[in-house]
Amino acid sequence: MHTLTLTPPAHPVPVTKILIGNDVSTKLKTVIKTDSFDRIVLLYDSGIESIAKRIEHSIGTCILLPVSSGDSSKSLAEVERLTALMLDAGCTRKTLLVCIGGGMITDLGGFLASVFMRGIPCVLVPTSLLGMVDAAIGGKTAVNAGGRKNMLGTITHPMCVIVDLALLKDLPAAQFSEGLVEIIKIAAMVDRPFFEWLEENMQSVLKRKEPEISECVTRAIEAKVRIVENDDHDRDERLLLNFGHTIGHAVEALSLYTLSHGAAVSIGMIAEMTALQSKDLKRVSALLEAIHMPLTIPEFLTRDALWNVMKTDKKNEGGAVRCAVPVSIGEGAVHTITSEQFSVLFS
Ligand code: GLY
Repeated sequence: MHTLTLTPPAHPVPVTKILIGNDVSTKLKTVIKTDSFDRIVLLYDSGIESIAKRIEHSIGTCILLPVSSGDSSKSLAEVERLTALMLDAGCTRKTLLVCIGGGMITDLGGFLASVFMRGIPCVLVPTSLLGMVDAAIGGKTAVNAGGRKNMLGTITHPMCVIVDLALLKDLPAAQFSEGLVEIIKIAAMVDRPFFEWLEENMQSVLKRKEPEISECVTRAIEAKVRIVENDDHDRDERLLLNFGHTIGHAVEALSLYTLSHGAAVSIGMIAEMTALQSKDLKRVSALLEAIHMPLTIPEFLTRDALWNVMKTDKKNEGGAVRCAVPVSIGEGAVHTITSEQFSVLFS
């Protein structure tokens, strides 16, 4: 088992412990010392009930709060429903909230923990690869509001993230590849040796072989921890994690979410590198192709529709549309993309 820590910029001591290993989710009772809380709430995606039950069995008495699968559960109405259930069950500020599921659950549960009685301790148990290497790391919490995604949220670091590699064995291939997109993204932006390692080892990672899968997940998390430790509030370095997401989010939204987040980000990464003439485009395309991700903007999406959505991205500044792109592998930077540069993709 590997143990990492995360110390956000304004904190003198580590705030989050990240435990990575096989079957760590069934050792919560000892690694978190669950006996020191008055109640343990397991908030989980109803689609992964068997994982939640296994964790309950290993802890003892828990309050079970299933949440319906799907992004529509990431809402203030759901936060209110869950708050009422927790109050009915006698939860207090000494209650521990354990959130078990993909990014939807870690965003929603992290948000609930950050506001319930002004904040209670929270442990995240991501069950998807994307959750393990991205959504659960770095304290971002969110619900959708105003008809847009992630419009309400906090940066509240969990006390612990449990990365149980055994959960990856049963993950469907498409979901596994979605997580790999975020891994390729972070390596391309900030970690050249890791990117080169991915080029060498991707076939073993795809087969979920040990020790490659463990090394891959650990290196991806380490890279994200290094970024968040310098900038947990998206002011500077953390914006590098937006590679592929400016165009990707527009593609995802305009496809009415028929394209997965990973597929949209993969398309976004290639489009952003092309528009900004990044020199290592072929190497990034080769890795995305190896994990069977799409590389081109679907024909039903028009230039103007995409550009209009990109202009509303919450990470833009001063009216300029911003894209984080690797100038070359490991050398990520935030650029402004002009309407003319974007138009190149459609000529
Ligand atoms: N998922 C991007 C971030 O954590 O900043």
